[in-house]
Amino acid sequence: MTARATFIIYYLFLTSLQLLLTHHVSSAAGGRWNIVLPNVGISAMHMQLLHNDRVVMFDRTSFGPSNITLPNGACLDNPVDPISKLDCTAHSIEYDVASNTIRPLTVQSNTWCSSGAVRPDGVLVQTGGDKGGELKTRTFTPCNDNRCDWVEINGLAKRRWYASDHILPDGKQIVIGGRGQFNYEFYPKTTSPNVVALPFLAETSDRGQENNLYPFVFLNTDGNLFIFANNRAILLDYVKNTVVKTFPAIPGGDPRSYPSTGSAVLLPLKSPEAVKIEAEVLVCGGAPKGSYNLAYRSKTFVKALDTCARIKINDENPQWTMETMPRARVMGDMILLPNGDVLILNGGGSGSAAWELGREPVLVPDLYHPENPVNSRFESLNPTGIPRMYHSTAILLRDGRVLVGGSNPHAFYNFTGVLFPTELSLEAFSPVYLEPQFMNLRPTIMSPKPQSMIKYRASLKLEFSVIGEVKGPVKVTMVFPSFTTHSFAMNQRLLVLDIEKLTRKGKTTTYEVQVRTPRSANIAPPGYYMIFAVYQNIPSEGLWVRLQ
Ligand SMILES: *[C@@H]1O[C@H](CO)[C@@H](O)[C@H](O)[C@H]1NC(C)=O
Ligand SMILES: *[C@@H]1O[C@H](CO)[C@@H](O)[C@H](O)[C@H]1NC(C)=O
Repeated sequence: MTARATFIIYYLFLTSLQLLLTHHVSSAAGGRWNIVLPNVGISAMHMQLLHNDRVVMFDRTSFGPSNITLPNGACLDNPVDPISKLDCTAHSIEYDVASNTIRPLTVQSNTWCSSGAVRPDGVLVQTGGDKGGELKTRTFTPCNDNRCDWVEINGLAKRRWYASDHILPDGKQIVIGGRGQFNYEFYPKTTSPNVVALPFLAETSDRGQENNLYPFVFLNTDGNLFIFANNRAILLDYVKNTVVKTFPAIPGGDPRSYPSTGSAVLLPLKSPEAVKIEAEVLVCGGAPKGSYNLAYRSKTFVKALDTCARIKINDENPQWTMETMPRARVMGDMILLPNGDVLILNGGGSGSAAWELGREPVLVPDLYHPENPVNSRFESLNPTGIPRMYHSTAILLRDGRVLVGGSNPHAFYNFTGVLFPTELSLEAFSPVYLEPQFMNLRPTIMSPKPQSMIKYRASLKLEFSVIGEVKGPVKVTMVFPSFTTHSFAMNQRLLVLDIEKLTRKGKTTTYEVQVRTPRSANIAPPGYYMIFAVYQNIPSEGLWVRLQ
């Protein structure tokens, strides 16, 4: 062997050793990715976690035959939609987290680009779709015997395609906007009037591009709805149909809604007993105005937006504060982690949402620490190997992982010969708090029992144990599970409960923490929440409770 060859081999050895070491270190620091299931038969365009730890997913019937057959040899014939004629495959599945298995579900009509929310009784209510599905509401009642399936009715007054839903304090659902719909409606239907005009949606629609679909909707602590579309927002009293506040446009004026798809979260709500609660919204990413047309008409893929805008929506004179992300992102997802951090993942670095228009997949998730000082809030995490472009999704699981699925920028299931092939895989991102080195900090909730009922404005005792002695901050958080599609986690909400008392049980490592439950349904709509004990920023597994 020549000296040069020896040198090269030695050099390669050193480099791979270094790679190994860096990889090891960075994987501890920046979380881990795992393929949960390589093929779930459909491309998870919409996802919702239910209170039995099963996740309902669906794409659209007009993709053509999927990779999973309908139960009992059934076939469906959708006369309105030529592509989905005599289709014997499923376009919806249920994923069981505990057994890591799936089963096919039956949607009768097209669920494409629809919306949904979970009712206070735990039933998933999906609204709208396309070609025969646009007036449908579909309910899914969770079960543990694999017998439940979708039930469809014509429940909507208007066609809803690209609308957003929110669960209301009275347990009803509001469905806002959608293509060509500058209005909102309630489900179940209310008596007079059930459909109400919302001129804001017409005002925010950019000609020929829209940029106002899938509006970001959050229930504010005063009971009004914060509605963001394009580059600005209003606070809507949906009962009286009056705009009670108009927020300024985000500096720069670029759009953040579909197809210039950014994402948004309501940041963790603290001190639910306080009279005036500080509620903050964070909007991240999107695509500069004109990106959709440039991508569609001339295959020019404009760099996505690399900014986030944050606003205190209950301020007298609310103003957006701008921050710069570590990278540009369009079609990203924003998921609240149990400790209150925000995980920003999926999407592309240029182009736009819609068929074939995204480029430069962003494989690196960025974590946003809302409580850190400006300029030290972002942390870049370990990359996945799978592009998750248009029609990808992410949701939080009770065990603290984030489930990621979907990505299909094509009008069919296309696995070869295309950029960013249709993804049938499910992946999970395990944030750094799940690393073994934090096991001795990770609390285990011992009581109350799972699925317990909890009341508003009450003291709740939670028992948890840790391996050592508690020396440091303890938090208790509650998370409402989101309906995620098109980069928006509808109904996503995290509450940090006020701690009244923390006591150690004798000389044991069990602690009792007494917290104050939410003051009202404006702060936390009724329904199933995952409750977490968080110690030194490391969350326990969640526990399902029902707030009512
Ligand atoms: C799903 O894909 C696998 C592997 O590509 C194939 O063998 C199987 O027949 C497909 N199933 C259906 C229902 O299309
Ligand atoms: C995508 O799939 C459809 C349906 O199978 C097929 O007609 C079309 O040619 C595919 N596109 C490409 C680019 O392969």
